Amino acid sequence: MIRAKFHNYIIILLSLLILTFLVLYSIQSLGYLNTPVEERYLLKDQDALYGPSGLYGHGVGFLAAFLMFLLWFYIIRKHWKRLRGVGRLSQWLKYHMWFGIVAPLLAGYHAAFKFEGLIGVMYWAMIAVMLSGIVGRYLYGHIPRRRDGHEMSMKQINTERASKLRSLQMEFGISPDDIKKFQGLTPQLDGIGTLLSLYHLAVFDVKRRYQLNQILKDFETRYGVSQQNLIFFKETVEKQLVMSQRVIVLDAVSKVFHWWHVIHKPFAYAIFIVLTLHIILTISFGFTWIF
Ligand code: HEM
Ligand code: HEM
Repeated sequence: MIRAKFHNYIIILLSLLILTFLVLYSIQSLGYLNTPVEERYLLKDQDALYGPSGLYGHGVGFLAAFLMFLLWFYIIRKHWKRLRGVGRLSQWLKYHMWFGIVAPLLAGYHAAFKFEGLIGVMYWAMIAVMLSGIVGRYLYGHIPRRRDGHEMSMKQINTERASKLRSLQMEFGISPDDIKKFQGLTPQLDGIGTLLSLYHLAVFDVKRRYQLNQILKDFETRYGVSQQNLIFFKETVEKQLVMSQRVIVLDAVSKVFHWWHVIHKPFAYAIFIVLTLHIILTISFGFTWIF
């Protein structure tokens, strides 16, 4: 818990640093970036600073590429068994996402928002992968996981659900009838197909807060949950509801997440190859920055 917070603070701090940097950079380079591409060569001094091969623009390119390479550490950590004990996978994913959002943002400034040639196409591929990453994160969050970020087996899910239900019955005295009513909040959706399951997943997400408030209010007044136990009670009810809704759509989410991987990965590898070529080519053409 403390470690998770520590990583959240690091990410907030890094975000503030990058945001400050980008605001200052935008203010300084506004005149140049606002000039039409074909007239920029007239602004020689500014081009030498903010152009893709300029002092700052080129430097930002290095930073973007550095972050692009760092985001692969999540993939290495995930697949290389020797690194299994090194930090929680879920924390690594947070950094992966952060690098995956910030690197394309910086790359835009590096290119001075002019996207031409193969590397220009690759830039849009990067943006597509970044956006698809956000969709992937949504699906990822709906697959029940252990605290370390690894997927739970069906047996683990059922054990956890049963233990939460037992807590509600034994520790808070919720009657079997109320438990049934509570379980009725999650409809049975047998055989409805993938698309409709995804629709229900979104509906669950939108409605859940409201459903929780209703049921918590009802249970609290009727069962008189003590102030001491209130947090634990709320957590137990919420976890039970979340778990039961996720299980209902699990097959569909797992299937779509699998397809998502199939599309996301080749794009990511292509970006990696084109970026490496871009760096090798520009350096071999004599763009060596400050070195
Ligand atoms: C994520 C990383 C990067 C992306 C997405 C990226 C993308 C781009 C794009 C779209 C352009 C503009 C192409 C044009 O003018 O038509 C460009 C230019 C350039 N990039 Fe990068 N770049 C990245 C990293 C780097 C790095 C690390 C270097 C240094 C080795 C670099 C060196 C250059 C140079 C020198 C130019 C100007 C080339 C010229 O004026 O002909 N880039 N880059
Ligand atoms: C251009 C940037 C990005 C690249 C090149 C990239 C690359 C990758 C790759 C190669 C994988 C496959 C990992 C595996 O082998 O299982 C992956 C997984 C993933 N990425 Fe990204 N990604 C990028 C940006 C993002 C962003 C912006 C997000 C979310 C905000 C994101 C979220 C995810 C998620 C949720 C997974 C699945 C994790 C898992 O199944 O373990 N990615 N990414």
